[in-house]
Amino acid sequence: MARFKFAASHNNPSRQTPTSLFRIFSGAAAVALLLTPSALAQKKVTAPFVDQETGIAFQRFFGAASGFGFGIALPADAAATSFIGQLTFPLVKGAGWGGWSLTGDMEGPLLMVAWSDGKGGVVSSFRQAFNEDDNPPEVTGTFSLKPIAAATATNNTFLTYTFLCEGCLDAGFGLGPGVASAEMGWALASTAVRNAATSAGVLAFHNTGFGGFQADLAAARSAEFDAWAALADATPLAAAAGAAEFALDQAGGSGDEGGGSGEDSDDEGGAATGGGATTGGGATTGGGATTGGGKNSGGATAGGNDSDDDSDDD
Ligand code: HEM
Repeated sequence: MARFKFAASHNNPSRQTPTSLFRIFSGAAAVALLLTPSALAQKKVTAPFVDQETGIAFQRFFGAASGFGFGIALPADAAATSFIGQLTFPLVKGAGWGGWSLTGDMEGPLLMVAWSDGKGGVVSSFRQAFNEDDNPPEVTGTFSLKPIAAATATNNTFLTYTFLCEGCLDAGFGLGPGVASAEMGWALASTAVRNAATSAGVLAFHNTGFGGFQADLAAARSAEFDAWAALADATPLAAAAGAAEFALDQAGGSGDEGGGSGEDSDDEGGAATGGGATTGGGATTGGGATTGGGKNSGGATAGGNDSDDDSDDD
């Protein structure tokens, strides 16, 4: 979905840096170049990133304009269902939330969000959205989360949250184990979470940015995973009272994916196997990006909100 807004948001001059403005207005050729599928694909893929505190080697998506980052590290065993994740994003006077989706969609798949408790701690919860209007409620299930304190910190302006997500990879959640490359999603808000002390805190729209990115999961695997996972807290976080069971029958997505099967890569065509793209041969993931070519629905209403979907282009 968010890919489709890529072109639209490039038409919003207020969102452009001088450099990209120049590119856009310097001629049709430049515009065409920007919007070619390979150009799109190259810009939103994960790249290697090593956490300085722990040495954990992630494949990380980073949006340059939003400052949002999400890194993922996986066990060498392709059948394993856990991963280590790291969310890094700016806060505005301590306010805001950031999160990831196991697919490029919001509705259906397993989501996770994190925010500051205002006292130096991070609050997080698993969510599942059933529409794009309401705060996605907190959910529980066979997945659980253990913070990695050594690489978790927050202050008024930034939040870093590193965690072991156990049992989080399941096709029923939107992304199963053993996938070489998959589209995942991200979202970032600068607005305060209501009832921020509880993991059931109420989120407002991700006004800073959101979208999908291609995660090179094959490259995210490491034989060192178990050592890194051992850094995590012993006890998983508990959900707040009232959290509902994750609805497996909803994880297939929003229904606006044009017949998507609900798999993580349902709208990626052949691109799901294009893991090599992160090393620079980006054209191979272009298959997925071409699905965004003619799409313009919703751009007018959301164009101002998803600007960061193209933020990683400079
Ligand atoms: C009150 C909370 C939320 C509201 C009101 C909301 C609203 C929306 C809306 C309206 C869109 C569609 C925009 C468009 O296509 O033009 C969207 C997309 C998206 N949202 Fe949210 N959202 C919320 C929370 C979340 C959370 C918690 C996550 C992830 C942790 C998330 C991830 C995404 C992603 C990845 C997309 C792009 C793919 C898609 O359209 O499904 N959202 N959201």
